[in-house]
Amino acid sequence: MSEMLKIENIRKVFNPGTINEKVALDGVDLTLEEGEFVTVIGGNGAGKSTTLNAVAGVWPVDSGKIYIGGEDVTKLSEHRRAQYLGRVFQDPMTGTATTMSIEENMAIAARRGKSRGLRWGITKAEREKYRQMLSTLHLGLEDRLTSKVGLLSGGQRQAITLLMASIQKPKLLLLDEPFAAIDAKVRTELRNWLREMVVKLGITSIFVTHDQDEAVEVADEIIITNHGHIEQMGTPMEIYKSPDTPFVAQFIGRSSIVEHYERLLGFDPVEGATHAVIRPEFVRMSRSEPPQHMSAAERGIVKDVIFRGNHLDVVVDVGGIPIVTER
Ligand SMILES: Nc1ncnc2c1ncn2[C@@H]1O[C@H](COP(=O)(O)OP(=O)(O)O)[C@@H](O)[C@H]1O
Ligand SMILES: [Mg+2]
Repeated sequence: MSEMLKIENIRKVFNPGTINEKVALDGVDLTLEEGEFVTVIGGNGAGKSTTLNAVAGVWPVDSGKIYIGGEDVTKLSEHRRAQYLGRVFQDPMTGTATTMSIEENMAIAARRGKSRGLRWGITKAEREKYRQMLSTLHLGLEDRLTSKVGLLSGGQRQAITLLMASIQKPKLLLLDEPFAAIDAKVRTELRNWLREMVVKLGITSIFVTHDQDEAVEVADEIIITNHGHIEQMGTPMEIYKSPDTPFVAQFIGRSSIVEHYERLLGFDPVEGATHAVIRPEFVRMSRSEPPQHMSAAERGIVKDVIFRGNHLDVVVDVGGIPIVTER
């Protein structure tokens, strides 16, 4: 395996020296091997889109280096980098040409960077290829090759944009919340389709989302971003079991973060550990019967009960420490 993307300590400050100064990327490091597929998750303004824009070369970074397939592209223009990249954005209206048909849109994507434009029309073989590609989406678009894209739903347009972004098998696929504006049912379909397509073609991909469930479902590895840097990268299970920071602990799964955990029974101080994470699924709550594991049992007062459909979240105050449990 070889490195397909390498980002070394990139920084980006918007509007430097003004009242609107914003450190958007504060030293981001990331290496992706060929064929690796990661999701990037983080709150609003964490720097997710800025990271993708830096890779695409939308503007120069202030410092740091970016390599694509081993080539230093840090100084390369956005236009020159485009040959390596497939990009999909949140807005379904941006990726396709409204007044052109599905097949024309696909032909443009397939011929991008090649000398032959749409001049000679679309051949039978090409049409067959597009039909076959569209059929993998299970949206019935293979029977609508000559329909104008403007007549399609947002989900259908976004599906075509994804196909177009991958049609030339780019070195890197940059997906910036591509499903955020699509209704839930189509989103699930497209998510599964995307996963299969990326794995089958082996395209190195970065998928940005702010949806926890989506992040875990789509890719094998997750990058958690916060305030312009990467807090942690790993498989969902690694992140869930061993969060590096309180921020990460709260991002995947639910948890109570306890600072003075040595005040709780059964919690020995651990060298270098400043906080304990208590997952609700590991807490057993009982009202009156004697607890099974006496040594770690605490008394508490129920402070809050929240209805969650298939269970209740119960917040218990244990000596001033609020702990979330489930029932
Ligand atoms: N072109 C820009 N000009 C000024 N500020 C920007 C620009 N792009 C992003 N920012 C700021 O940088 C921070 C990170 O933004 P962004 O990467 O878009 O976050 P997100 O993680 O939500 O995608 C935000 O505070 C945003 O306002
Ligand atoms: Mg964004």
